[in-house]
Amino acid sequence: MTADTFRANSAAARDVAYALHPYTDHVAHRENGPVVITHGKGVRVFDETGKEYIDAVAGLWCASLGFDNERLVKAAEQQMRKLPFYHSFTGRSHEPMIDLSEMLIQRAPVPMSKVFLANSGSEANDSALKMIWYYNNAIGRPEKKKVISRLKAYHGITIGSGSLTGLPVNHKLFDLPIQGILHTLTPHHYHGALPGESEEEFSTRLANELEALILREGPETVAGFFAEPIMGAGGVIVPPTGYFPKIQAVLRKYDVLMVVDEVICGFGRTGSYWGSQTLGIEPDILTCAKALSSAYLPISAVMINEKVYQGLAEGSHTIGTWGHGFTYSGHPAAAAVALETLKIYDEMDIGSLSARLGAVMQRELRARYTDHPLVGEVRGTGLIGAFELVQDKAAKKNFDPALKVAPRLMKHAQERGVFIRIAPNDSIAFSPPLIISEGEIKEMFNRVDQALEVLTQELRREGSVSV
Ligand SMILES: Cc1ncc(COP(=O)(O)O)c(C=O)c1O
Repeated sequence: MTADTFRANSAAARDVAYALHPYTDHVAHRENGPVVITHGKGVRVFDETGKEYIDAVAGLWCASLGFDNERLVKAAEQQMRKLPFYHSFTGRSHEPMIDLSEMLIQRAPVPMSKVFLANSGSEANDSALKMIWYYNNAIGRPEKKKVISRLKAYHGITIGSGSLTGLPVNHKLFDLPIQGILHTLTPHHYHGALPGESEEEFSTRLANELEALILREGPETVAGFFAEPIMGAGGVIVPPTGYFPKIQAVLRKYDVLMVVDEVICGFGRTGSYWGSQTLGIEPDILTCAKALSSAYLPISAVMINEKVYQGLAEGSHTIGTWGHGFTYSGHPAAAAVALETLKIYDEMDIGSLSARLGAVMQRELRARYTDHPLVGEVRGTGLIGAFELVQDKAAKKNFDPALKVAPRLMKHAQERGVFIRIAPNDSIAFSPPLIISEGEIKEMFNRVDQALEVLTQELRREGSVSV
């Protein structure tokens, strides 16, 4: 089919004619067309027909202050009038980037030294990767360059961050990962534990696996380890008890830098201000983006500790520059919006808010779905959660991917006015804006309940489930 399928000159027709979308089956899109979103209010967005949707994932786990925050609009406007652009290369600076860097350092989960600004989560993680390489060159360890990430991790899609990502769709047909990026096991007890293995024992095994990998590669060649506190796009995977302290002990033993990717988990998502605090991690490098500006303008940050900074400083002085940076690093309008976002977070006290509201969301999730015949596992903490659809609950067996159960649930949910996110193994993710009310949490799940009921009836009719 072609653009002619849609009303001539409609937004849908022009979209299909001209736009190449991220994360889209381009052929299916030609048939189905887009959902054209026109505006938002609070936790809701509206399409061009006026249909309303609760966005259960805050867009892409990012619009934490919802879709109509006037203060953020004003912050952008004021900054655009005062200084719409200036760069930060070669010692040039401006107040929004200075203030934002200071605020981030003051709020860091562990003592941090400096902030580097970029425009996306992928750029932040690529920058962190390059910092690790540069740091080791600068301190005279040119052979220490390999970086370990985890299967099912999501760190972005650029060449470096896409290599760190551990999902097949981001590697297949893209010739990734690049050399020197290794992947270790996913910390998912539900699928990964051996029969009878406790969470603590599973964590010990994963830490032992990591140590074995480092020893196999040669500790003198392994430089960094990347981890999301809770894996988001991989399926909202909460690590087992004791996981990060055990992993971090191995990293320290072999002088491997710990990079924590807080692109989703930062800023009140997990029941604390940072995911590192919820999970007990002490990063050497921390990356963040998304909720940093409530996604109103693109901006991301890399925080580094004093040890890493000293290496970078040394190297840049010897060479004469730190040859890395983006035209829009610390863009004044984006930095001003991020600054205002952080002020709003302080006023909301997002750490405690997330713990309080998160408890409501987790209670609802568990009460509604734990005993559902199609749900194998309910997981999450704070304002991030998921349930996983399974064909056989006792055997923890997922559905045949050809049945497309999660996309079908997403479609039913969309028809009933809620946008959900699907992830590997038919996981259904929730990560609503932090401004969601208790009533809206219930309304969101009521709509999902209806969609799940329709799917369950469908699967029963087809004979795809026996329950
Ligand atoms: C944990 C994590 N890291 C990095 C990224 C990449 O961010 P971006 O899409 O802004 O490049 C994402 C995006 O979803 C993410 O979830």
